[in-house]
Amino acid sequence: MENGDSNEDYDSSLPVEKWCGDEQLYQWKGFWFRLQYLLGTRQVLDKFKPLPSDVILASFPKTGTTWLKALLYSIINRSSGACLRSNHPHMLVPTLEVQLYGAQQQSFSTFDSTSSSSRILATHLPHQLLADAVKPADCRMVYVTRNPKDTLTSFWQFVLKSRSYEEPWPLEMAVEKFCNGVVPFGPYYDHVLGYWKESLERPEKVFFITYEELKDDTKTHIRRLAEFLGCPFNGDGGEEEILDEIVISCSFEKLSSHEVNRSIEHSPWMRLPMSSFFRKGEVGDHRNYLNNEMVERIDTITVQKFHESGLMY
Ligand code: A3P
Repeated sequence: MENGDSNEDYDSSLPVEKWCGDEQLYQWKGFWFRLQYLLGTRQVLDKFKPLPSDVILASFPKTGTTWLKALLYSIINRSSGACLRSNHPHMLVPTLEVQLYGAQQQSFSTFDSTSSSSRILATHLPHQLLADAVKPADCRMVYVTRNPKDTLTSFWQFVLKSRSYEEPWPLEMAVEKFCNGVVPFGPYYDHVLGYWKESLERPEKVFFITYEELKDDTKTHIRRLAEFLGCPFNGDGGEEEILDEIVISCSFEKLSSHEVNRSIEHSPWMRLPMSSFFRKGEVGDHRNYLNNEMVERIDTITVQKFHESGLMY
C-alpha cells in the first residue's frame, strides 16, 4: 500500500449502506464497493496501462467469470486441459482489482502466463469506470452476463457459504439490496447496460455473451469467441478435436471435479475456499429459492431497466 492509499482515505465522505452482516458498501462514482476492493479499483484506474494485445474479461460477480477465465485461457492457448487440472482458473487469469492491484498486489508474472500472444486479465469494474483506462490501448473485451435472478441467487449462496457472519443473511434482505442496486460492483443493471451499449457500438472490440447462451451451445460460442479474439479454429481435424476438448475441459462437471477446485483451503487472494467458485452451474436455479413475489419484483425491474436497450432477460 502506498502512502496515503489507506482505506480510511476513501470512506469518510462516501455514501455508505449496510449490505450483509456488519459489512457496509461504499458508493463511488455511482457504483457500490466493498472497502477492500475500492482501494484496488482506485489503483486500477490510476495505474493500469493495458496493452493493445490484452484481452480483458469483464463481468458482474457470479455471472460465469470462472468459466470464462478457463475458456479464454483455453482458446488463446489452444487447450489447457493439463493446466486446468492443477491450476484454479483464478490462478491462470488474475482479476485486476483483487489480485493485481490493491491490498493483495501480485505481479502478472506470478500467474501462469504461457499465453504467448495476449495477457488475459479479468475485472468486475463497470465499463462506465473502466472506459478511460482501456481506451488508449483499444484492446478486446469479453463481457459475460447472466439472468439477474440466477445471479442474485448465486451471489446469496456464495456469501452464505463462504463467510461466517454472526447472523444469517436472509434471502429477503439480499433481494432488497439487489433490487436497490446495493451489491458489490452494482447496480447490476447499470453494469450490464454499460457493456451492452459498448458492445453495440464497437462489436469488433467488445464481445457480449450470456451465461445461458454459453450453456445452451458451448461449442458454437467458443468458435465465435475464438473468431472475435483473432485466433479462429480453422476447421481442420486437429482443431476440431481441440475445440471439443475445450468444451469438456471447461465444463462445470470437469472443472469442479479437479482437486484444486474442490479444495476447502483458502485462496491466497480472497480468503475464501477455492471451492467457493463452483456450486451448481445450472440455469434457472433461482426457482428453488425465490418466491413468486420476489420473481415478480425482479422481473418488473428487469423489464424497466432493459426494455429500451433491446436486451432481453
Ligand atoms: P451457481 O452459484 O449458480 O452454481 P463467478 O465465476 O462469476 O463467480 O460465477 C460463479 C457461478 O458460475 C456459480 O454459479 C458457479 O457454480 C458457476 N460456474 C463455475 N464454473 C462453471 C462452469 N465451468 N460452467 C458453468 N458454470 C460454472
